[in-house]
Amino acid sequence: MSGRQGMTASPHPVIALLLLASILLPLCAAIKMEEFKKCTDAAFCNRLLGTKDERYIVDPASVSVTGAKLSAKVLNKNNPDVSLTLTLTAYGSFLRMHVNEDASKGRFEVPGVLQKDLPQVESSWKKSKVAAAHTSLKLGKADVVLKYSPLQLSIDIAGKPAMIFNSRQMFNFEYLRQKKEGDPEGWWEETFKSHVDSKPRGPEAISFDLSFPGFSHVYGIPEHATSLSLAPTVDLAENTTSEPYRLYNLDVFEYTADSPFGLYGSIPIMWAHRLGATVGAFWLNAAEMFVDISKSDQGTATNWVAESGVLDLFFLLGPTPHQVSEQYALITGPSALPQYFALGYHQCRWNYRDEADVREVDANFDKFDIPYDVIWLDIEHTDGKRYFTWDQHLFPHPAQLQDDLASHGRRMVTIIDPHIKRDPSYYIYQEAEKAGYFVKDKDGKDFDGWCWPGSSSYLDMLNPAVRQWWAGQFALSKYKGSTPSLYVWNDMNEPSVFNGPEITMPKDNMHFGSVEHRDLHNQNGQLFHQATAMGLEERGRAVYGSDGDRPFVLSRAFFAGSQAIGPIWTGDNTADWDHLRVSLSMIMSIGLAGLPFNGADVGGFFGNVDAELQTRWNQLATFYPFFRGHGHLDTKRREPWLFGDDATRRIRDAIRQRYVLLPYIYTLFRHANTSGVPVMRPLWFDFPEEPAAFAIDDEFMLGPGLLAAPVLHEGAQERAVYLPGAGPWYDAQSGAMVKPDTQGALKLPVTMDDVPSYLRGGHILPLRERARRSTVAAKNDPYTLLVILDGKEQATGDLYLDDGSSFAYKRGLYAHRLFTYKDGVLSSAPLPGSPSRYTTDLYIERIIIVGLKHKAASYVAKHKETGETYTVQEGSVAQKAGIAQEALVVRKPDLPVASDWSLQLSITK
Ligand code: GLC
Repeated sequence: MSGRQGMTASPHPVIALLLLASILLPLCAAIKMEEFKKCTDAAFCNRLLGTKDERYIVDPASVSVTGAKLSAKVLNKNNPDVSLTLTLTAYGSFLRMHVNEDASKGRFEVPGVLQKDLPQVESSWKKSKVAAAHTSLKLGKADVVLKYSPLQLSIDIAGKPAMIFNSRQMFNFEYLRQKKEGDPEGWWEETFKSHVDSKPRGPEAISFDLSFPGFSHVYGIPEHATSLSLAPTVDLAENTTSEPYRLYNLDVFEYTADSPFGLYGSIPIMWAHRLGATVGAFWLNAAEMFVDISKSDQGTATNWVAESGVLDLFFLLGPTPHQVSEQYALITGPSALPQYFALGYHQCRWNYRDEADVREVDANFDKFDIPYDVIWLDIEHTDGKRYFTWDQHLFPHPAQLQDDLASHGRRMVTIIDPHIKRDPSYYIYQEAEKAGYFVKDKDGKDFDGWCWPGSSSYLDMLNPAVRQWWAGQFALSKYKGSTPSLYVWNDMNEPSVFNGPEITMPKDNMHFGSVEHRDLHNQNGQLFHQATAMGLEERGRAVYGSDGDRPFVLSRAFFAGSQAIGPIWTGDNTADWDHLRVSLSMIMSIGLAGLPFNGADVGGFFGNVDAELQTRWNQLATFYPFFRGHGHLDTKRREPWLFGDDATRRIRDAIRQRYVLLPYIYTLFRHANTSGVPVMRPLWFDFPEEPAAFAIDDEFMLGPGLLAAPVLHEGAQERAVYLPGAGPWYDAQSGAMVKPDTQGALKLPVTMDDVPSYLRGGHILPLRERARRSTVAAKNDPYTLLVILDGKEQATGDLYLDDGSSFAYKRGLYAHRLFTYKDGVLSSAPLPGSPSRYTTDLYIERIIIVGLKHKAASYVAKHKETGETYTVQEGSVAQKAGIAQEALVVRKPDLPVASDWSLQLSITK
């Protein structure tokens, strides 16, 4: 019985022109919910989500084990036509369950996401007991049992049940079949509004239930504008349901700040966390998906359904948050290491009108003494939305403009969207049309859809030849007016099709290799993103030689594995406080899904932002992994200096603070690059033993050493903060120790100047304090080490260094330093396992120590190797960086940043 029967589909058809008009008049309308499908509007969701009437069993005679892999046949007691192949493969720290019907049926398996050579555990199933009723396996701290009748997989962690697949028997696998007279409605054709989906392969959905016993909190499955700890969609006590979480990449116009509707990206990984265990489940499937969540005293139960594809489910065994991140990175790849400049401030707008406008904005950053790194051009810079071209009147000298910006350390980003104007005189269209590179409609013709340029075709990025051809378009000789300092923004790649069903591409469109769009929809944008990044990578090698230039491509659509390509942002949010608040959960949830480099439009895309909100948004975005100001065409200009002197000063402080933190942030990105650990993350990620933190999403950790609790409410005079762990915590603005009550709670009065953030005892943060115009201008600046001691007067931290731009780090040309403070000695050593081949003249000009019990005047610092001594002072000099007044400062030790040294701090009397 379906849990969702009885709800009806919305009946009104809408003509394409009205839809187009609504897109083009964005400031007058809010999201039109009825434009988007609910579960009940999608036949497969109606059929299978929460449906319990199938009986799948494992055929005991078929079970065989080879090395790490168990194989078996799965049968359906109710239907003799069903025969599925199940494999369970044991890896060191995760388990993969794969179920498909005969491969000759050609069900779609998502390409390019899984890492090659996943680390299998050869001997694991050998130790298992192959019995008549079940098979079991021990994998680290996990005990895995596969029961045969009915099919059930249960995983215990440290002796306690943690994940159970099919305990409620909602697993269902619609096998591919021939059309028959009398087949139920919705199997072979489906209509939504005026759009008919021809469904040539009939019903092919897959569903299952997955329980997390003993877990009250689940997270992830982005992208949704919702709380971080996912709210239930099924109320068991009341026997009611709300909309399930939907994963279907869509250009949702004016999305609301609290909704389970699908947005621009989808990553089907769910986390569950409780005291003592963190686990994850990742379903590699790019079709439309819905997920229901219910909670009870027993824990959390979830139901999943996807429209097509195969069951390829990974169980991540944790058992710590860091380990779940690492396991997911092993499976789908760690995130790309960004260029250093990409972590600075980005200034965007739809649109900077012309070259003079760009030059003026650029000059104003200097005039107002605000650092920034990149200025962005939106769609109006092109000749009639023909990407790779320039409007000859507005941007007659693009290369000169970029060179001038580059001469003082700034870059430019231009937008390149995936819809190609169907104009036979446009070279991109000509070449692609001739080569047959466009996605086809169901009748085999080049698909024709509406987007910014009007009638457009869409490149079929599933075809490797198309990706290669597209990459070639970024060569300097091809992309006229581009220079090596130009980078790229890929938007609308869900793809957005203004006159398509739900503003996207019809599912029965056809891709390379006879793949229906239905199968790969959620991966569509990623393939485009990947081809663009490949283009910049090739350009980089052509310009700089084999070490190249790391690409920078921002994408709106994303999927599992997008982290290996580049950043994403959360799309068209709104200039209101709800959107400010929900940005935290969204960014953290996407980060848990392995994609740390993401951010929200600062200021809110739609609507006008006032001085207070703009100030608060910048104060928050100081800590966003990706920090970009942006705004809709119809909004008032909103560059940082346009909100009065006070706001300008505060926004300047916020952006400067970002630049001060960059060495720390870059180091965090290196960790994401090596082990998948998110940069901005929930408190429980670093404090997994604190139940009070499990649902907190209005505060976050930036790496392990900094907690931010920015002000998120209009007119706030007070901020309640929760500080986890035993502390000590220090106010990042004053350096003063803060003392929460016994529950960890702190209430503090706030003014518009306050950005509550806290330094965690026991950590060392590398900083750069000198105020500069851009990261390029700061390239040769010395570092500061901010040493925050714990109760035992100890601390550790690290700093990752490389050239900040090329791939030379992949050949070991980097330094990763480990700093330790213990027994009064601060020492610098290579992080174990890191090479020491990277050389630099850069040095540490200041060491700030927070948390020493004695007064600064009573200390002297001595270089243990050279014997040189340095004065130690009260910490007021650090004030201008906004950090640590109540500190002790070692001035000008000028210690080489990438070498070994140690400094002894002793009390003089
Ligand atoms: C989309 C993007 C937005 C951009 C606009 C025009 O709405 O999300 O950021 O400014 O298109 O290109």
